[in-house]
Amino acid sequence: MKQRTQYVCQNCGAIYAKWQGRCSSCNQWDTISQVEISKKPKSSKGASSNAVKLLSEISSDNDQRISTGIAEFDRVLGGGIIPGSLVLVGGDPGIGKSTLLLQMCSAIIEYKPLYITGEESLQQIKFRSNRLKNIPDDLLLLAETDIERIINAIQNTDCGIVIVDSIQSVFSEKIEATPGSIVQVRDCASALMQLAKQSEKPIFIVGHITKEGLLAGPKILEHLVDTVLQFEGDKTYSYRILRTLKNRFGSTNEIGIFEMVDRGLIEVSNPSAHFLANRGYEHPGIAIVASIEGTRPILIEVQALVTPTNYSVPQRTVTGFDLRRLNMILAVLEKRLGEKFSKYDVFVNIAGGLYLNDPSIDLGIAAALLSSLKDEAISSDLVLIGEIGLTGEIRPISLIEQRLNESQKLGFKRAIIPKSKELSYSKDGLKLIEAQRISLALNEIFA
Ligand code: TYD
Ligand code: MG
Repeated sequence: MKQRTQYVCQNCGAIYAKWQGRCSSCNQWDTISQVEISKKPKSSKGASSNAVKLLSEISSDNDQRISTGIAEFDRVLGGGIIPGSLVLVGGDPGIGKSTLLLQMCSAIIEYKPLYITGEESLQQIKFRSNRLKNIPDDLLLLAETDIERIINAIQNTDCGIVIVDSIQSVFSEKIEATPGSIVQVRDCASALMQLAKQSEKPIFIVGHITKEGLLAGPKILEHLVDTVLQFEGDKTYSYRILRTLKNRFGSTNEIGIFEMVDRGLIEVSNPSAHFLANRGYEHPGIAIVASIEGTRPILIEVQALVTPTNYSVPQRTVTGFDLRRLNMILAVLEKRLGEKFSKYDVFVNIAGGLYLNDPSIDLGIAAALLSSLKDEAISSDLVLIGEIGLTGEIRPISLIEQRLNESQKLGFKRAIIPKSKELSYSKDGLKLIEAQRISLALNEIFA
């Protein structure tokens, strides 16, 4: 017989047979509380079906994706919404999750979306939709937090797509735990998962990120749902990035870019042109790099400021890039070129509030640092592409062709790129300069 009582860690969801002060799974103190298990047996409905079938007997009709009507959103979903899928949209409060999903509803109103809100009143939704202008009058809305009633409404309403905003506000009376606690979140999400699979109605659930930067119900929701999207951005900037963290139906390294304006989110379908909007001026400390975000090249400005330090330990501050990587680049410049950064404070910033993971921007960062140190501007028609290795070599990087195409399209005249075995491409109007070592590249840049 299964136990009627369990002890569940509210932080990580680990389950224990008896109470203990510290969770041995996540090492947090005082997070374990007693939970009564509902008598309802776990049904085996859902993704599984009892009958064994041949692969060929299973139709792939459900691969027919529904477009969200928002190209940047479709891109991160892998091409559109899969019927019966459960999608988690996570992000900090106030980043724009509700706005995005409300806009999606209005773009696909013919699929009869049902927007269930547990956080805002229907009046608040009405205010928001007035602000967003073209939200259709026939959008289905429900203000409800009880999961049983939500499920009832989904089953009994002629709706094609469901949005539950947010999963933290939803609770089941059958579970003795406060709304938003890990047990509630997990059980409500899995009930919605079963419903999505049975009814073939895709369900989007909104999840707030906790202070630690984890999706609430750390990891548990991620395992449960089909797709995890994260909406992020620096609130001081208007750019918002929708990132795929997990996708059972598509690639996970896609991003969608939006801008939050006074009438909601607008798509940024040509990010390079956007991020380089005020290009053309030359100033010491600025370099242009060609990063790949998802499958798209994005040309963007990196800025560095190098100033004499007043401290015994100089400051290293970086926004939008990995600090360890900056330290590595500084060490290479010191060791291989003899530049003494140890007497200087260093600040590096990626324009627009983007966070870049792509090592191909190393060369641009190094050039921006030296440009600021020497107080010598880099030509604004030059784009820098290359990963820096510890010996000062410039390492080959992937997708060079796409990066160069984008540079050419935006009218850059020269590109410094890693040396390749045979240079099989040439770009009209874009001079390609191969550099094997950082010292050679810098000679070109500061010629
Ligand atoms: P919201 O979608 O409520 O965020 P979330 O659901 O992730 O908590 O977005 C709220 C923020 O977006 C709020 O700070 C105001 C801003 N905003 C705009 O700038 N323009 C708009 O048209 C709307 C609707 C919101
Ligand atoms: Mg919201």
